[in-house]
Amino acid sequence: MKIDVLTIFPEFFDTVFDFGIIRRAKLAQIVEINIYDIRSFTTDKHHKTDDKPFGGGDGMVMKCEPIFQAIEKIIGTCERESYPSGTRVVLLSPQGKQLKQSIAREFADEAKHLILICGRYEGIDERVNDALVTDEISIGDYVLSGGEPAAIVLTDAIIRLLPNALGSETSAVNDSFTENLLDYPHYTQPRDFRGMDVPEVLLSGNHAEIEKWRRQKALEKTQIFRKDLLDKEHS
Ligand code: ADE
Repeated sequence: MKIDVLTIFPEFFDTVFDFGIIRRAKLAQIVEINIYDIRSFTTDKHHKTDDKPFGGGDGMVMKCEPIFQAIEKIIGTCERESYPSGTRVVLLSPQGKQLKQSIAREFADEAKHLILICGRYEGIDERVNDALVTDEISIGDYVLSGGEPAAIVLTDAIIRLLPNALGSETSAVNDSFTENLLDYPHYTQPRDFRGMDVPEVLLSGNHAEIEKWRRQKALEKTQIFRKDLLDKEHS
């Protein structure tokens, strides 16, 4: 998979993809990540990436020309209908569809080339959305100063689902949300820490009992902290 990020703050991404699973996936050539500075696609003297909103109002709006230029350069076309199959142009914005594990899974399974546009300021010229964007994604009902942290979240959620990105194939299968359940509790050494013991069943070596206990705990946790997930499952 290739992931291209369009941002006016390229330095934001200087080291963020250089750790753990993402770093390993890059080294194993499971994913290639490129960061593009939107400013480098401006053609005016002052390299403006934003301007005042038509109709008045607070703040600045990101201009569409540099983003069209960038997409033209990266994909080879600004015609959404002509994008190669598996190409998705994603705008990160609070107006988008809320990111869920199922959406990350869909991108991991179907997308070959992701272009992530990090919005900034009060918004982005709507013509970007109208003509270029295939998916508008929000990472939650709160407003960030820009789409950069959201692009990092989306990238991380997708990469760990790519084939061979995780050390063990089962790790992602058991992740929280995969079955609309939160994860079960985990323990490691020491067995007794400050009077807090590891549950006896985990020391029993009885794998069937351990599975049963984990499932029960996952259900209990979901019932307590995210009942909405269980309601969704049965609606
Ligand atoms: N940009 C600003 N807020 C955002 C959010 N919640 N999700 C994605 N992009 C954003």
